[in-house]
Amino acid sequence: MANLSTTYLGLELKNPFIVGSSGLTATYEGIARLAKNGAAAVVLKSIFEEEIQMEFREALKNQLGPQDNNLDFLDYLDYQIKADVLSKTTELIRRVKADFDLKVIASIHCRSVGEWFAYAAKLQEAGADALELNIYRLPSSLEVSAAEIAEGNERIIEKVMKHVRIPVSVKMSAYTTDVAYTAQRYAQLGVKGLVLFNRFYQPDIDLENNRVVGGQVYSNPNDYTWPLRWVSILAPKVALDLAASNGVHTADTAVKMLVAGAAAIQVVSSVYKNGPDYLLDLQHGLDRWMDKKGLQDMVALRAYGRAMMPENPELFERVQFMKYFGEV
Ligand SMILES: Cc1cc2nc3c(=O)[nH]c(=O)nc-3n(C[C@H](O)[C@H](O)[C@H](O)COP(=O)(O)O)c2cc1C
Repeated sequence: MANLSTTYLGLELKNPFIVGSSGLTATYEGIARLAKNGAAAVVLKSIFEEEIQMEFREALKNQLGPQDNNLDFLDYLDYQIKADVLSKTTELIRRVKADFDLKVIASIHCRSVGEWFAYAAKLQEAGADALELNIYRLPSSLEVSAAEIAEGNERIIEKVMKHVRIPVSVKMSAYTTDVAYTAQRYAQLGVKGLVLFNRFYQPDIDLENNRVVGGQVYSNPNDYTWPLRWVSILAPKVALDLAASNGVHTADTAVKMLVAGAAAIQVVSSVYKNGPDYLLDLQHGLDRWMDKKGLQDMVALRAYGRAMMPENPELFERVQFMKYFGEV
């Protein structure tokens, strides 16, 4: 039996498998099932800026009546709703930390500088071991350039970093223009890790019923190649712990990510599809592979990976098909 323990963001993990932010990690009961099956860490369901705003609007509709011109009352209501959303999460962190042997990474989905830093500090106080920032806004504005978006993201990170001591990671969009440069900038700002990559809600059109619908929610087993490419390219270049995410559905895919230099693996879709005990299959699959290769621990695995990966990662940097292979 190999020793699967590893470190991610400076945290000791009993194995490299983290359950990513999702409905799986939204409740105490859900996390209990993951803990029972050996999850080393969970990233809690994100606290969403829009969610708070929506709740605020809903509450306004239901409660205002004669108060609708009273700015102090509006202010109070805003504060109250934020406090409620936050207190649900801080309570969850406290209970999970008290009852289970796993690390808890809180997650904030932030779109603007706003007041997120205050939430971050509260999550830290509640006992979160780390904080994952899910920073993304669809660049659909005709007025906002890539440079302005990048600048805004950096301001968010700077602000959060000033207010927390726990390690901070950023969950990156696969559509980032300058992945390597951005990773380096984040490292310079004090970020400890990068999650490669986020997966977004994908709307679709239902032609039968003439309406826009939610598209496919889960990733596919072959979605892993883009994160694998970037883990391979970034691991030797940046001082960040990389968590591979998106399309890790089998133990073999997890092994590829670790060989390429990932510090940890985040899984969501495969656990939704196969149930929480699939985490045990992933751990056993990794263990079996390490045994087969005679690797006793993750340090040995990493050294094995470094020896296997080409020094000049030209295959991972090649993007165009110069020629088709074979007769296709
Ligand atoms: C139902 C569902 C809910 C999700 N909710 C969040 C969320 O709140 N915050 C977040 O950062 N990612 C969220 N994600 C994205 C996942 O954390 C993960 O990045 C994505 O599913 C890719 O990993 P996978 O291939 O293992 O599924 C969600 C994914 C799913 C399927």
